[in-house]
Amino acid sequence: MKYFEKVKNKIEYKKDAIILGIESSCDETCASVVKGGREVMSNVISSQIDIHKRYGGVVPEIASRNHTMSVVSVVDEALKKAGVTLFEIDAIAVTYGAGLVGALLTGVTYAKTLCYALDIPLIKVNHIRGHMSANYLQDKSLQPPFLCVVTSGGHTAILKVNDYLSHEFLGGTLDDAVGEAFDKVAKTLNLPYPGGPQISKLALEGEANIQLPKMLKNEKNYNFSYSGLKTAVINYVHTKQQKGEEFSKADLAKSFEVSAIDVLVEKSELALKSHNFSTVVVCGGVGANDYYRKEMQKMADKNKFKLVLPEKIYCTDNAAMIASEGYIQYYYGKDLSDLDLNAVPQIKL
Ligand code: KG4
Ligand code: ZN
Repeated sequence: MKYFEKVKNKIEYKKDAIILGIESSCDETCASVVKGGREVMSNVISSQIDIHKRYGGVVPEIASRNHTMSVVSVVDEALKKAGVTLFEIDAIAVTYGAGLVGALLTGVTYAKTLCYALDIPLIKVNHIRGHMSANYLQDKSLQPPFLCVVTSGGHTAILKVNDYLSHEFLGGTLDDAVGEAFDKVAKTLNLPYPGGPQISKLALEGEANIQLPKMLKNEKNYNFSYSGLKTAVINYVHTKQQKGEEFSKADLAKSFEVSAIDVLVEKSELALKSHNFSTVVVCGGVGANDYYRKEMQKMADKNKFKLVLPEKIYCTDNAAMIASEGYIQYYYGKDLSDLDLNAVPQIKL
């Protein structure tokens, strides 16, 4: 008999099930205990930023090795902080993709091992569905339908979330993701990794007085493009350097931020109005950007839409969002996995 069939027979679908979430898709080893899909009992994040900073970005092999070294203690700490033992966990939810394959494998392997030892269900979670579910932690009364704007390092998309289990893709980036553009622009300006928060900080001191393209702004669809904007920033810097002219990095950071974010806010507004939605939620690392948060709030207030903005710690990678999404899968009996679960570097949204 398959493992998940064996444990499925044992499951009592408890409304207040306690799920242990494990996330290791990139450079953060995370574990969290969440009750009933909405109540965070602990949320532990062990960041490798200081290690990867030296290389100007995430080095996949180094990330895997560090996950291997810290996953056991991170899970232990999450259990301790939540005040529960492994025997009180109803199921384990783990990110199986998308992400760096070696990094993912660490979390997947540890989750499989624990499930096998404890004889409890293993739930496979798509990282981006996890980001979306961060909103259920933020707003305990949030229920679909709503519109979800995904802005992470690998994805930029507008989704219709019709119910707890499914979503519909309205549009997304045709090339780079918005987070990726923040990171590349930061590199061009010689700012340390990770670039997004650095640009955000620098932009606070600058003015949006440099003309940069707002790609696909006037197209009445939900597509985005960030590679042209990124190239425009690189060209601006090169031209200034070739002419030996000084320029304000802060003004360039602010101008870039405004060009990158305004299109997102405008297209979110268009999607809300065209699809008759009154609730919009934000997710993914760029959701931690203050200018974006402020502009989304202004747009929502103007139209009397409800906006859910996860706390910044739940915008960037964490395992609470994985446990929350895992709870949905557990509750509806979906995506229970077998012990042959593998890491998948790329998954379609
Ligand atoms: O969701 P996330 O933590 O990981 C992925 O699933 O990709 O997103 C990481 C991305 C990075 O590109 C990072 O630079 C960006 O989110 N980011 C930010 C900010 N904080 C993180 N971008 C702009 N402003 C920020 N404050
Ligand atoms: Zn992420």
